This record gives sequence, C-alpha cells and structure tokens, in this order.
Amino acid sequence: MNNNTHSTLRRKLRSGLVPFAVLLAACGDNSDAGMPAIAPVASAPAQSAAFVGERIRLMISGSLNGRLEPCGCASGQAGGLARRMQMVLQSHVHDLFIEGGDLVLNSTRLDLEKAMTAAQVLFTMPKAYDALGVGPHDLLLPFGEWNEFLSVMRVPVVASDLEGDARTWPAVPFLEREIRGTKVRIASFTMSLPNAITATSPQPLQLLTPNAAWARALTGATLATRCILLVHADPDTARKLAASLQPPPDLIIGIDSTNHEPPSTAEQAGKVPLVFPGIRGRYLLDVTIARTADSSRVTSYDPMLLQGSETKPDAGQDPATRLIIRQHREQVAQDNVLEQMADTSKPQGASFVGSAACAACHQKDYEAWQNSKHAHAWDTLIRGEQDQKRYGWPVTKYPDCVSCHTTGYGQPGGFITAEKTPLLINVGCERCHGAGSEHTASSGTVKLGKVGDGLPATTCTQCHDFEQSPKFDYTPLWRVIQHGAKAQLPKGK
Ligand code: HEC
Ligand code: HEC
Ligand code: HEC
Ligand code: HEC
Repeated sequence: MNNNTHSTLRRKLRSGLVPFAVLLAACGDNSDAGMPAIAPVASAPAQSAAFVGERIRLMISGSLNGRLEPCGCASGQAGGLARRMQMVLQSHVHDLFIEGGDLVLNSTRLDLEKAMTAAQVLFTMPKAYDALGVGPHDLLLPFGEWNEFLSVMRVPVVASDLEGDARTWPAVPFLEREIRGTKVRIASFTMSLPNAITATSPQPLQLLTPNAAWARALTGATLATRCILLVHADPDTARKLAASLQPPPDLIIGIDSTNHEPPSTAEQAGKVPLVFPGIRGRYLLDVTIARTADSSRVTSYDPMLLQGSETKPDAGQDPATRLIIRQHREQVAQDNVLEQMADTSKPQGASFVGSAACAACHQKDYEAWQNSKHAHAWDTLIRGEQDQKRYGWPVTKYPDCVSCHTTGYGQPGGFITAEKTPLLINVGCERCHGAGSEHTASSGTVKLGKVGDGLPATTCTQCHDFEQSPKFDYTPLWRVIQHGAKAQLPKGK
C-alpha cells in the first residue's frame, strides 16, 4: 500500500465517521418521498394457508458498477444511491437490505474512492444495509487497503466460497439475522477469482467449490433456518445451483452483468425462487419470500425503477447521500485523480496532434465536425460544472465524465487536463480515427482507421451506451455527424 492510497483511507475513515452527526441532521423527514411509494405486500392469495412460518421481505440490489449517480447525459436516467437511500430510509416494512457486490468494475484510484463512498452510504446511514456480497470485480480493488477499510467500517461482508486470512480478509462465510423469531442466513458465492488474486504469491484467497461453500455457509443451521444465496454467475449457472444445492436455498439472487434489467417476474427453479436485480443500481428489487411444506416461493415481487420525481424537492433524493457523493466529487478534484489516472507515457507509435491539424487537408470534414456536438463536448462539461442546478461540482476534474468528452484520456499521450493538453478537449477526430501524427506527417500515406473493432457503430457505442444514448441507432446518428469522401455534405460547405 503506498502512502498516497493510505492517506486516502485515513481521510475516508475520518470522513466516514465524522459525517454521521451531519447525516442524522441532514436526513430530516424522509417520509415525503418523491419516489414510487413502497406498496404494501399484496393481500394473501387464497392458497396462503399452504405457506408456513414467517414471510421475509427483502430490498435487493447488486452490480452497482461504480454508478454512484446517473451521469445526466440523457434525460430520464434511472438509479443513483441518493434515490435509493430515499427509498431505503423511508421503508418501515423490509426485513433485510442486501447489496450483492461488484460495487465497481475496475482497479483504478477512482474505483477505490467510489467503492469507499458507496460503502459509506450503504453502511453508515441511520438504516444500514445488512449485507454486502463480494463480486469478482470487487477483488480487483487494492486488496489490503479495501479490506482494511471494510474491517474498520465494520461492513457486514459475506463470501461463503472464499477463504482468506482473518487478519486481512473481512468477509464471513455467512451472516445471520433473526427476524420475528426466524433465523435468516445470507450467503454469497463469488464463483471465480480474478488473475489479480491468482497471480499473487502467496495467494491471499482460496476458492471453494459450491458444495463445500454451501456446507460452510450452513454450519450450525437447522432446517428452520432460511437461507438466501447471492450467486455471481450467469443465470444458467444460478439455475444449476438451485437444482443441486442441498438443502435448497430459500432464494437465489443472481448478480449477473449480462442482465441489464430485472425480469418482470421472479423465476421458480424447482424448489428455489430466483431473482436478478439488474446492473448499475437502476432498480431496487422488493421481494417477499415464504415457505410451503416442501419449497420456497416468492409471494410478492416488485422491481422498482429508481426514477427522479419532478414534483418533490430534491427530486426524491436523500440529501445526506447527496452530500456524501458531493464530498467524493470534491475530493477527487482536490486530489487531482484526473491527472493521476491519465497516461502520460510516450506513445509507442503515432501521437495525438489535435483536430485542428487535420483541417489543412480535410477542410470539409473539419467543418462538419465543428458543426457537430462532438466539437463542443468539453464546453458542455464546463457549463454543467457552472450550473448549480444541474451539477455544480468539478465535472471537468472527474475522470468518469472527462473520459467520453475528450480525446485519448487514459491512452499514452492522450488528454491529461484542459491546461496541459488543450488540443485534446472535445471528442476530436483522433478519438474515432486514432492518433494522427504519422498520418499527418506522411500526408496521408500512413493510413488511419477507426477506433474499435473496425465497425463504425462500435466506435460510437464505446460512449453512446444504453445509458448515455438510450435510443442509439447508428444510421440516423451517423447522418447527423457524417463526413468523409462518401459523405453528402450540405452545399456551400
Ligand atoms: C468519446 C466518446 C464518443 C464517441 C466515440 C462518439 N460520441 Fe457521439 N457524442 C459524445 C458526446 C460526449 C456527445 C455530447 C456532446 C455535447 O452535447 O456536448 C455526443 C453527441 C453526439 C451526437 C449529437 C446528439 C444529439 O442529440 O444532437 C451525435 C449525432 C453523435 N454523438 C453521433 C455519434 C456517432 C455516429 C458516433 C460514432 C461514429 C459517435 N457519436 C461516437 C461522445 C462520443
Ligand atoms: C460513457 C461515455 C460518457 C460518460 C462517462 C459521460 N458522458 Fe456525458 N455524454 C455522453 C454522450 C454519448 C452524450 C450524448 C448523448 C446523446 O445526445 O445521445 C453525452 C451528453 C452529455 C451532456 C449533454 C446532455 C444534454 O442535455 O444535451 C452532458 C451535460 C453530459 N454528457 C455531462 C456528463 C457528465 C457530467 C458526466 C460525468 C458524470 C458525463 N457526461 C459522463 C457520453 C458520456
Ligand atoms: C465520432 C467519431 C468520429 C469523429 C469525431 C470523426 N470521425 Fe471521421 N469518420 C468516422 C466514421 C465512423 C467514419 C466512417 C463512416 C463509414 O465508413 O461509413 C468516418 C470517416 C471519415 C473519413 C472518410 C474515410 C473513408 O474511408 O471514407 C475521413 C477522411 C474522416 N472521417 C476524417 C475525419 C476528420 C478529419 C475528423 C475531425 C475533423 C473526423 N473524421 C472526426 C468517425 C468519426
Ligand atoms: C497533409 C495532409 C493531411 C493531413 C494533415 C491529414 N490527412 Fe487524413 N488523409 C490525407 C490524404 C491525402 C488522405 C487520402 C488517402 C487516400 O485517399 O488514399 C487521407 C485520408 C484520411 C482518412 C481515410 C482513411 C485513410 O487513412 O485513408 C482518415 C480517416 C483521415 N485521413 C483522418 C485524418 C485525421 C484524423 C487527421 C488529423 C489528425 C488527418 N487525416 C490529417 C491527408 C491528410
């Protein structure tokens, strides 16, 4: 652990504990939420007599994937921790709050800061979450520092199929809560180890088989104990586990990055119900489970899309959570994470020269580009930064905004800051065609291509994904920015 990250931890821990008083003060009355109201559990169906014992009501999410709040690139984006916490703090009917894991996707400095911020939100609020699963992506985070953070914050981390040294590994094989006299266990299967772990010597974690992990998760449990299992795998693997684990779990929660959205109903795989909360924290799953004589069932299921409210103050977002996220944004700017994450190494081949250098030989293409929004993508960030209502925080210093609104950020010789690389603000020619110094110097003899796998549409979807451009369609959008020899440029251009 280097000094830099260590001080991050220290500061985070401090700020994680100090704002508690602030939080309580800022929380105020959450009853007047702008969010969809939490529906009472539907009145018991006729065959309810078949159910035995308590019904357990859960609030579930997973695969936050670093989306602390929507980026605001398109209207009507869903999700965000502030909307979520508004729901969570308002709920008086849920027995358990579960976050599946994969809080972030990668191992950058920003990912670590985001993961800490998310954990701070989920586990230090007046109503703290009950469990955090461990996804394979979480294991990419700096092992020592992240796990030390989780320990000090006393985050209830669960990983049944991972064994590590208790001094450095904070996860337990299961968590148990008692709900109206019924014991409920939460277990989690990570299912795989990333290279970052297997390549470390000595390997800090060992992966157990599902059967061994299940036995470990059920140590000391009785048949009356309800067991909820988080599975970090694709739906088919989750279904196979539903059929093979003995005794069968009462619920399997599939944390799976391929499912963007939760299905409209819960699935029943033999004796075991299965649910999938989707990715990026856009939905909260409101699920009730109950037992029949020989199986477990979902008795109520509501995937709640976390959308903003146009009528309520704060648009249905919890103010204390917004404050924590705002502190994170300011801290990222203050620490200059943007510059630290830029790749300042000298490029191997061609280097970036900026769009203006192309104009000499591609005048029409340059004009077409200047008339497109790509040529103003940086201004858009500046305007957002200055607009207190829209953002009002240092957007131009936040790597996750800058990455798509500039040229070559994170690549050798690419964007660093507006001051250091003024030619590389905006989505310039070279963002889509690759660094152009050799092409330019050779007057076009050294060819340029298209960034991506060569298909023009995949060049676009690197940035125009389902959140930034929910209705992305290549042909009509290309027409808006079209250029090049084959392009039909308007007359006079
Ligand atoms: C580096 C990320 C990035 C890539 C790659 C990219 N775009 Fe964009 N695009 C943006 C950003 C950012 C904006 C918004 C700029 C603004 O409004 O300031 C935008 C805006 C647009 C707009 C204007 C949308 C509107 O509603 O007016 C069109 C059209 C567009 N892009 C088409 C494309 C096409 C076609 C491709 C692929 C050939 C592409 N973009 C590739 C980032 C990208
Ligand atoms: C994955 C790439 C990506 C990231 C990351 C990203 N943007 Fe964008 N942004 C886009 C694209 C693409 C568009 C154009 C959307 C369209 O019009 O289809 C856009 C558009 C915008 C717009 C114009 C929206 C409008 O109403 O005209 C703003 C403002 C904006 N982004 C701000 C941000 C901020 C702030 C962040 C960081 C929190 C961010 N963006 C992160 C790709 C991205
Ligand atoms: C948002 C991505 C994007 C940006 C920015 C962009 N281009 Fe392109 N450009 C493309 C795509 C995609 C094609 C190919 C379209 C196709 O094959 O149908 C293309 C085609 C071209 C062509 C024609 C190549 C051919 O094989 O016909 C030239 C020349 C060109 N671009 C130059 C430029 C210049 C110069 C700039 C900046 C002033 C620029 N482009 C900015 C995506 C982009
Ligand atoms: C000194 C003149 C010159 C400059 C400067 C120049 N190009 Fe070109 N470019 C050419 C010529 C000439 C061709 C046509 C080659 C052909 O048709 O075979 C070309 C072709 C292209 C093509 C089509 C694919 C290819 O390589 O044939 C793209 C894309 C392109 N240029 C992008 C750019 C970009 C981006 C820049 C700025 C970084 C740029 N060019 C700067 C002369 C130039």
